[in-house]
Amino acid sequence: MGRALAAAALAAGHPTVVWNRTPDKAEALVAQGAMLAPTAADAVGGASVTIACVLNYGAVRASLAGLADPPEGTLVNLSSGHAGEARALASWAAQRGINYLDGAILTPAPTIGTGAATILYSGPQTLFHRSRPLLETFGGTSIYLGEDIGVASAYEMALLDLFAMSVGGLAHAFALAIAEGIEPAAFARLAKGIGALLPDLADRFADQLAAGRFPADVSSIASAGSAVAHVSDAAAARGIDTTPLRAIQRIIGRAAAAGYGGDSYARLAQFLAGTDHPGVSAESAAPEPSQSALRGAGPR
Ligand SMILES: NC(=O)c1ccc[n+]([C@@H]2O[C@H](COP(=O)([O-])OP(=O)(O)OC[C@H]3O[C@@H](n4cnc5c(N)ncnc54)[C@H](OP(=O)(O)O)[C@@H]3O)[C@@H](O)[C@H]2O)c1
Repeated sequence: MGRALAAAALAAGHPTVVWNRTPDKAEALVAQGAMLAPTAADAVGGASVTIACVLNYGAVRASLAGLADPPEGTLVNLSSGHAGEARALASWAAQRGINYLDGAILTPAPTIGTGAATILYSGPQTLFHRSRPLLETFGGTSIYLGEDIGVASAYEMALLDLFAMSVGGLAHAFALAIAEGIEPAAFARLAKGIGALLPDLADRFADQLAAGRFPADVSSIASAGSAVAHVSDAAAARGIDTTPLRAIQRIIGRAAAAGYGGDSYARLAQFLAGTDHPGVSAESAAPEPSQSALRGAGPR
């Protein structure tokens, strides 16, 4: 990703200094006109804007550990991590007199410099505006989310949650399909229909969470529990690992035990967040529900 960002800056005519722990990886960028700095501190020194994009927040700190004097420019960290890490890095930067803006890249490296890139930013608005001429070279959509330094990372993690669970679900579903002898291409054609339900579901979740009302006009937590139990049985019969399904059953069982079986699935988000019911949380010590308890979980 660092190479894609630097290439976009170079292509837009920005004088660009690059640094990477393994310098060989910068060869193509140097051939395109980048200057290779011997240390990260050297790269940051004279820059008006520094883009950090490494493995994680720890790697950002490790890279900048040798920084002697606070740089005049702005540090924009586009490495992934959670909101708490962004806030901790902001404190670390403030103690060293570093101007710090956080960001999160939502799209893959090949989108950088094209209209398909989407990058979120949060932190001091003045730093966002000051860095904008460079940030715009990354293309696509830049969204500034406000002064709270942790917000870009918070969005990134929630969206990655959706992506990780969806892709995990896709892998599990294909496993079950092929174990049942279904041809992958035939399965994919119908699987796309399930994926197409998600945009409307996202809006329904948002509306219900905003209203604080969860009518099960399409389906309820209890009926979802019943469906998951069927799938879990089918996967077990084929010797496929049912761990992800049992995790979902467990959450549904806890929500049903708290009296939400007759509510829509959106209630589960509020239940998991622990904002629904004082004293009841998804992490409470309720026993793992049996399959039959889930099947029988009815309306409140
Ligand atoms: N790739 C994508 O499509 C994509 C999309 C969205 C967000 N992101 C985020 O962008 C960031 C970079 O992703 P990537 O795909 O470029 O990852 P990557 O290919 O695995 O590269 C990791 C980079 O971090 C450096 N690094 C790791 N540990 C380090 C340390 N302790 N000190 C200094 N440098 C260290 C590596 O240096 P070496 O080369 O020396 O190992 C390398 O430059 C990640 O936070 C990722 O989540 C990536």
